[in-house]
Amino acid sequence: MARKVILDVDPGVDDALAICMALFDPRLEVVAVTATAGNVSAEQATRNVQGIIEQLDPPRLPRIGAAKEPDFGREGDNRHLYGADGLGNAHFPVAELHHVHPAEKVICDEVRAAPDAITIVALGPLTNIARALARDSELASLIGRIHIMGGSMRAGGNVTPAAEFNIHCDPAAARTVFRSATTKTLVPLDVTNQVMMTYAQFDELPPESTKAGSFLRRILPHCFRTHRAELGLEGMWIHDAVAMAALLHPELFHAEALTGDVETRGELTTGATVFDRRSGRKAHANMEVLTEVDVAAVMDCILRGLHAAAKR
Ligand code: BDR
Ligand code: CA
Repeated sequence: MARKVILDVDPGVDDALAICMALFDPRLEVVAVTATAGNVSAEQATRNVQGIIEQLDPPRLPRIGAAKEPDFGREGDNRHLYGADGLGNAHFPVAELHHVHPAEKVICDEVRAAPDAITIVALGPLTNIARALARDSELASLIGRIHIMGGSMRAGGNVTPAAEFNIHCDPAAARTVFRSATTKTLVPLDVTNQVMMTYAQFDELPPESTKAGSFLRRILPHCFRTHRAELGLEGMWIHDAVAMAALLHPELFHAEALTGDVETRGELTTGATVFDRRSGRKAHANMEVLTEVDVAAVMDCILRGLHAAAKR
């Protein structure tokens, strides 16, 4: 039976890759895609979720949940990397949707409808998940697993010297989720920074004549350019696609059970993730943290996933 997942995303080009992999994978049933503010504003993130689904036209339409900005504001965004619309300036048109529920309501509804069976794949700031936990005090015990792209153990930050983007955007929400009584996997920069998509791999993507191929070939080129111009990289990071590969193929990663928390008020360290690695502390571990990755096998898995999306 396919594994039920909710994708909580802030698209973002790498979120879009992960969504593309998930929507066509027979091992997954994507019951909802909920938008969260992060790479782009709440409004744009919601539009992008809708636009991505309309462009890809998957066999089964997931529910959509609308984003709302974090309660304490959001520091910055990633439009400088992903384009003004977050999707490589593709500016996909979207149909006007009525009655889109808030993301946290959709999360609560779907978890309640399938207790213990839902994996929430969190690929953006953790705002919606913290709100869902606050909205329904029993929710933590009903969520199967939360699979989070975010944080950093030894890799340093990417948005500040200490903090990773998703956690830094809404550190209070991240702390709530980290401290919740849920089963969690964290896919930090330590592994996602190791996997880059190269120009040669871009050329291996599905052809323009397919819906998925045309979509990918519209959103990615801008991102390759910004990675070169701003970061001096000959390729692009695809953090969220790596996290999706980790969900589908955990055997390609090494995991450690650790106690993790989030700094919410540091002068230089707001949004930094802190792990207790002192000996004898494993018994209190609150999450599994991925620490090593088989880079070539993960890239292969990602490309296969994107090709599967084009076979439909
Ligand atoms: C994370 O932040 C965003 O830039 C990406 O979409 C990814 O989820 C990486 O730090
Ligand atoms: Ca993201």
